[in-house]
Amino acid sequence: MKSIKDHRNLDDKYVLLRLDLNVPLNNGIVTDQTRIDKILPIINFLLSKNSRIIVISHVGRPNGKKNNNLSMRPICKNLEKKINKKIKLINNDIFKLKKEDLFKDKEDEIIFLENIRFYKEEEKNDSSFAKQLASLADLFVNDAFSCSHRTHTSVSKITEFLPSFAGLQLEAELNALKKVTSEIKKPVTCIIGGSKISTKIGIIKNLIPKFNNIIIVGGMANNILHHKGNEIGKSIKEENCESIIEEIFEKSKQHSCSITFPIDVLVGKNLRSNSEVKELNEINEDDLILDIGPKTINTIKKVIEKSETVLWNGPAGYFENPNFANGSYEIAKAIVKKNKNKSIYSVVGGGDTISLINKINVIKNFNFVSTAGGAFLEYLEGKDLPGIKALS
Ligand code: 3PG
Repeated sequence: MKSIKDHRNLDDKYVLLRLDLNVPLNNGIVTDQTRIDKILPIINFLLSKNSRIIVISHVGRPNGKKNNNLSMRPICKNLEKKINKKIKLINNDIFKLKKEDLFKDKEDEIIFLENIRFYKEEEKNDSSFAKQLASLADLFVNDAFSCSHRTHTSVSKITEFLPSFAGLQLEAELNALKKVTSEIKKPVTCIIGGSKISTKIGIIKNLIPKFNNIIIVGGMANNILHHKGNEIGKSIKEENCESIIEEIFEKSKQHSCSITFPIDVLVGKNLRSNSEVKELNEINEDDLILDIGPKTINTIKKVIEKSETVLWNGPAGYFENPNFANGSYEIAKAIVKKNKNKSIYSVVGGGDTISLINKINVIKNFNFVSTAGGAFLEYLEGKDLPGIKALS
């Protein structure tokens, strides 16, 4: 993998820079800035080399359609303030853009393309889209480790059409994760939550041989509760996961990996509701499971207490509503308590999980914070990430 640090001459070069600025937005306000802060080194590095920067990122999942709520504009504004420089956001159809139209104004140093997932070609790893993007620049830099598990045009296919380099943050994350996974101390526990069930459920079975304990919370836990014959009401769940779940339990027996999942829950009637504690046999058809209950929290705390290493991705509940944030906060506090007396090595990853631990101001109490969620889990699984493979 070639590093952008080793590129000899970046002076006046047009650099297509893939970043992961998939940050949480609430009415056009960036509610967690960690991912923006993490890209400042590559921006400052390229500016210091006098490069012309063309930023590509996605935010959210607009499914190939323009969606004003998922514009890059608030993110550009946020970054502008941080670096004290003007950024030009280009709304024009990328297929009609020409290299000579960019940086016409001598003052322009950074250009943002609109959310790359407004184009259906992005998620198809499309060659003509990659060629068109490549025609805008002299070289490509991937500084989006957290998107490198996606075989998408701006992560993978693009590398076939431009000299391609690893960015500073991507290298830092990869090196840190390599170190963490090679020096891991047992018992090791992996906590997996969040709402991206389809991204994560298939990964769990491959993690089983590597971990002593796997704790499943968040959306995925609903699939398990349903599989075990419980009513889960209107809660989110992924279809057709029955055989995956059977495999998870079968494999966990073979590898003596203990699987923990909720034994009680907090429910609401909608996302803005108050919370109500329920035993699994009390869940109604019109309930939404939105957090883990107190008995589950106690069980999880006991597992954390016995662990030497913990890796955590994905909140336990819908923490955006404080009524459903307790499960995630209690998990965080249990890890932090052990971290303070240096009796655990803790790694946390993913946009939502970072946002959650920032809310209670404990980010400094984790040994390593990865910006990546799905990519972090796939890396732990031992998979070759397509975005990294494409750079090699
Ligand atoms: C993430 O937040 O993990 C990355 O930005 C990837 O987002 P995705 O799961 O929508 O591909």
